[in-house]
Amino acid sequence: MGERIIFGGSTCQSLAREVAGEAGCDLGKLTIKWFPDGERYIRVDSDVKGRDCIVMQSTSRPQDANLLELLQLLDTLKENGAANIITVMPYFGYGRQDKIFKSGENVTSKTLAKHIEMNSDAFYTINIHKKHIIDFFKIPATELDATPILGEYFKTHGLKAPVVIGPDDGAERLAKGVADVIGCPFDYLQKTRLGPGKVEMKPKKIDVKGKDVIIVDDIIDSGGTIVEAMKMLHSRGAANILVGTVHPVLTGNVISRLFSSGAADLVATNTINSQISYLTVSSLIAEAL
Ligand code: R5P
Repeated sequence: MGERIIFGGSTCQSLAREVAGEAGCDLGKLTIKWFPDGERYIRVDSDVKGRDCIVMQSTSRPQDANLLELLQLLDTLKENGAANIITVMPYFGYGRQDKIFKSGENVTSKTLAKHIEMNSDAFYTINIHKKHIIDFFKIPATELDATPILGEYFKTHGLKAPVVIGPDDGAERLAKGVADVIGCPFDYLQKTRLGPGKVEMKPKKIDVKGKDVIIVDDIIDSGGTIVEAMKMLHSRGAANILVGTVHPVLTGNVISRLFSSGAADLVATNTINSQISYLTVSSLIAEAL
């Protein structure tokens, strides 16, 4: 029996299996069921007394149920005598509620941090929406970077004068991560207010004319951000536009929307399982653990 044992919640079952194999940990056994009214039932079937446990769960759709499942798992492991508990949340949902935009609002990412740390000794996530969320945790918390995985993928595409563009300044660090692997320039789209109701959006420093452009964002949700970015880059003469994201939230018919808007390729990691999750973050997590 190995020292450490990994439990995959509903959102991370195959990823947890991969990580367990790569990190040389046991894969824990769980029973997860739903009562007829939709309430979730959790049972930890492995003996965890005195063992170090790793729990993997993304707070992807259905977010609240998956969050509750994570809290149920953490609490049960603690109650069953686990020694140390590490929470790995490949996708941290609610990251876009990271501050008070209007007084009286709940900072939901902080609420999550408070509840997770109650029964966790350490926390890992991947490319969190805003870096400062990590500081909400009072336990050791680490953000892993999956952009090199996207970079390795796009590197094999034989692109013509590639450039990597983030659709806003927050995505510049993602664009850099991808570009560093490919060995090409990177930039982000800057919005400039030209006058009342008139906003110009363009790459801050790079001319994309005739170039293959890789757009990288942390999340693709409705796809609106990427569609706007593609329109603008095409109008500035970009050749092929390829799109990569770490977290494929993908609400509605976004995949066909992006292809019909001119994306030549669309790829994501498996922090959330989706039709475009071709790239695995298993080694990133296994190495960090
Ligand atoms: C916003 O700041 C995020 O980084 C993403 O750009 C955004 O969440 C994407 O959402 P959507 O696909 O709905 O435009």
